[in-house]
Amino acid sequence: MLRAVVCVSGGGTNLQAIIDGIKNGRIGNTEIVRVISNNKNAYALKRAEENHIPSVCISPKDYADRGEFNRAFLEAVQKASPDLIVLAGFLVVIPEEIIAEYRNRIINIHPSLIPSFCGTGYYGLKVHERVLERGVKITGATVHFVDEGTDTGPIILQKPVEVKEDDTPEILQKRVMEQAEWIILPEAINAIAEGRVEVKNGKCRIRKDGKDRDNG
Ligand code: GRF
Repeated sequence: MLRAVVCVSGGGTNLQAIIDGIKNGRIGNTEIVRVISNNKNAYALKRAEENHIPSVCISPKDYADRGEFNRAFLEAVQKASPDLIVLAGFLVVIPEEIIAEYRNRIINIHPSLIPSFCGTGYYGLKVHERVLERGVKITGATVHFVDEGTDTGPIILQKPVEVKEDDTPEILQKRVMEQAEWIILPEAINAIAEGRVEVKNGKCRIRKDGKDRDNG
């Protein structure tokens, strides 16, 4: 059973997609063992409670400095003994010690086709505002492993979404969530749970078969 910790900051629609994916069998052999949020008002915490998933709020505001927060966050993650950490709309920079300890076991969902419209300052609605400003015709979402950079780790899955003439950032965000994020994040978690995802020379591939689990 893959033990997943899901980190959230907002509405939790990606968390909900994982919960639903486990319920309907699109995600096999996986359990969300803990939800961690930096925002005590995140609706994602309500979704965790409704689904009887243990959750905790660890906010940088509650600690004297970033070092204290990083230690508390690392402890909250380690306590859950995760096989996988999923950043699902999580707006806090992951401490380097966690990235080192969980190398290629932290994934993030980003609402664009990386390497476009990503990096510092590109999150949430801002991504879609930039997409519309630039006038691109296709956008989408990306699931990638998290490394020390911002949105720079090995890409696991991507899914394109059409940009329409009269899109607003909000309409586009919803389409990208519905047609891409909520599909590829469960798909990536399921592939990891089946041991079909491998990273070689910084590139990721998903094996189609369900052969024995990687020991990487
Ligand atoms: C969304 O913009 C999503 O693209 C990004 O984080 C935001 C919040 O998502 N990953 P959620 O509804 O909290 O999952």
